[in-house]
Amino acid sequence: MRDRNLALELVRVTEAAAIASARTMGQGNSHLSDQQAVAAMRTAFDAMEIYGTVRIGEGERDEAPMLYIGEEVGRRDEDDPKMDLALDPLEGTSLCAYGRPGALSVIAMAPEGGFLHAPDIYMDKVAVGPAGKGVIDLELSATENLHRLAEAKRVPVKDLTAIVLDRPRHDALIKEIRSVGARVRLITDGDVQAAISTCEEDTGIDILLGIGGAPEGVLAAAAMLCMGGDIQGRLLFKHQEQEARARRLMQEDDIHRVLKLDDLAKGNVLFAATGVTSGDMLRGVRFTRGGCVTHSLVMRSVSGTVRTIEARHDFERKPSYDSDGPILSE
Ligand code: FBP
Repeated sequence: MRDRNLALELVRVTEAAAIASARTMGQGNSHLSDQQAVAAMRTAFDAMEIYGTVRIGEGERDEAPMLYIGEEVGRRDEDDPKMDLALDPLEGTSLCAYGRPGALSVIAMAPEGGFLHAPDIYMDKVAVGPAGKGVIDLELSATENLHRLAEAKRVPVKDLTAIVLDRPRHDALIKEIRSVGARVRLITDGDVQAAISTCEEDTGIDILLGIGGAPEGVLAAAAMLCMGGDIQGRLLFKHQEQEARARRLMQEDDIHRVLKLDDLAKGNVLFAATGVTSGDMLRGVRFTRGGCVTHSLVMRSVSGTVRTIEARHDFERKPSYDSDGPILSE
């Protein structure tokens, strides 16, 4: 019972962050958009009856003033449940800053030990919806993964759509997908929503391929666990310092191995995301006369229920949601 209530509490927190950052949409200032989301999320956490610790957050304590790794959040009464948090107040900061589709605010929560303590480095990823569960393998090529997925879905490869971050590092990957005959959807940012969208047939997206952030990989895994999808990732290191840090954070030696879904997120996971700008899964914040409308996803891994929540917020009764744009200085 407590879980269900917590899931609903969680969505209030992503809603607050989404509304605050949505105010800055199109201002061309990614830093400001992020600041707004972080400050609103941090404040909204205070009302939550949890003893939370940020595991995936805004970075190290010395580089992020709020929601840094290790920060304790929530009401933190003695009998409040101890929870680990993976969060991104604004996933796709430039998407919001330039008014492009797909920015969202996201939090996953689990009892202690539920998430990989991934460092903020790159991760090679492959993610699919429930039809491809158990079929994908990051040790295999994109070609092989596409063929295996097509077989599992009983469709020709040419009917599959792969979603890929549009980056020069993916030139060879994109060429390979094209040569297999599958369709490609290139996005400028936001591979958490991209991963989740493979779980929803209506999006027309079948597989996420390529390299994105490792923290985003953990957030995507939390969602995949709830929705019955699958994801694998492999951390990519630029230098030995990153390797040493990963060993410290993850408390394991084999940091180069392929990480499976339950290495990334496991147990009783709660997940909430609210759209900032409209994307494949979530509509963005719409401001109306005297209020706004938000669109969120709330899920629990235990039940597998995926709830979409459209909330109408009345600024007269909730004045804290109604700031005339930037609240914080840069
Ligand atoms: P931010 O929200 O931090 O801007 O991240 C957006 C994002 O596109 C992620 O979705 C993705 O995992 C990562 O950046 C990719 O990193 P890069 O922009 O360095 O290729």
